[in-house]
Amino acid sequence: MQWRPLVALAALLAQDAAAQQMMRFSCSKLTIERLDPLVEPGNIPSAHMHQVGGGNSFRSSMTPVDFDPVKESTCTSCSFSEDFSNYWTANLFFRARNGTLKRVPQLVNMGLQADGGLTVYYIPPYDGRSNVTAFAPGFRMLVGDPMLRSAENQQRQLCHRCFATVNQVPFGGAPCTGDDTAALPPKMCTGGIRTTITFPTCWDGVNVDSPDHRSHVAYPESGTFESGGPCPASHPVKLPQLMYEVIWDTRMFNNPDIWPEDGSQPFVYSMGDGSGYGQHGDYLFGWKDDALQRALDARCSNDKCSELKSQTADEATACTIKQTVEEPYDGWLPELPGNWTITYA
Ligand SMILES: *[C@@H]1O[C@H](CO)[C@@H](O)[C@H](O)[C@H]1NC(C)=O
Ligand SMILES: *[C@@H]1O[C@H](CO)[C@@H](O)[C@H](O)[C@H]1NC(C)=O
Ligand SMILES: *[C@@H]1O[C@H](CO)[C@@H](O)[C@H](O)[C@H]1NC(C)=O
Repeated sequence: MQWRPLVALAALLAQDAAAQQMMRFSCSKLTIERLDPLVEPGNIPSAHMHQVGGGNSFRSSMTPVDFDPVKESTCTSCSFSEDFSNYWTANLFFRARNGTLKRVPQLVNMGLQADGGLTVYYIPPYDGRSNVTAFAPGFRMLVGDPMLRSAENQQRQLCHRCFATVNQVPFGGAPCTGDDTAALPPKMCTGGIRTTITFPTCWDGVNVDSPDHRSHVAYPESGTFESGGPCPASHPVKLPQLMYEVIWDTRMFNNPDIWPEDGSQPFVYSMGDGSGYGQHGDYLFGWKDDALQRALDARCSNDKCSELKSQTADEATACTIKQTVEEPYDGWLPELPGNWTITYA
């Protein structure tokens, strides 16, 4: 089965035939709950539900820079045991014809082992030479806007891919190319739906956060990170390209009889988003010392790295935390957690 991760990597980089080194590893499910230390610090519960991976110091309030996830965590759900960062996204639910909702489970990504959670990428510059600056202690950022329900004002590089078969081959090109859509796919995806969330790669070099959690970072001025696009003068420091990948296993819902009678797509994100435009990802840096910088400089690839300590998939999946406010998220639910009204584009 060795070819599988290679296929995924090669496909991701269809536009760059050169062997690209990138860290690609899983962060298994740490918790699923309504907490958001970035956008709603201190709110217990927060408005909508998230799935979270990473260090077990995750909690409602994690103030920069006093709160140090490295010191506060005793385990991580990620493959690299020195990574106590937190990574989180919204959850996806299926809304049946009768109006009840069921959380969509996830497929384990090719070549990795995990219990739900997400696949995390840290991608160094494609030129194979220049280095990037790893995130600073206390750094955090948000990409996407949970309230968005249209393409207007959408940040770049938040996409869905409709799979005809599980781990389909050919896999398709780089994220957000080909038939990828910012909206949720308008039809039944018999092999699942992949989402990719790609963060900005330019930093103002000073602030580890900003009031909207976005303006201290920016996308390259022109071109993309992949093409070596320059950073704007306001955000001159080049960061590694952080990307999340989640493959929603929609197969149990491949039954037209439980889909809406008009054939419209039945999936909704946990913030009541039936459009998909509200997809977002949150990041809170928490690597130990300079581990991430060393791994990037050494061009570490996949989930093994001579510069980093790894743990087994069993150790990673054993790192979980209890919900702070207990509420159900599995089984058929009469409404979304937080009782969101579902809105569409
Ligand atoms: C709603 O529909 C789903 C899917 O068919 C079914 O499993 C569930 O039992 C139904 N719930 C109610 C309350 O009818
Ligand atoms: C990048 O970092 C590596 C490892 O420290 C070093 O060998 C290399 O010279 C650096 N590249 C540049 C362009 O500074
Ligand atoms: C959820 O909201 C609806 C109206 O939007 C309301 O009728 C219902 O009682 C609410 N459910 C709960 C559990 O609060």
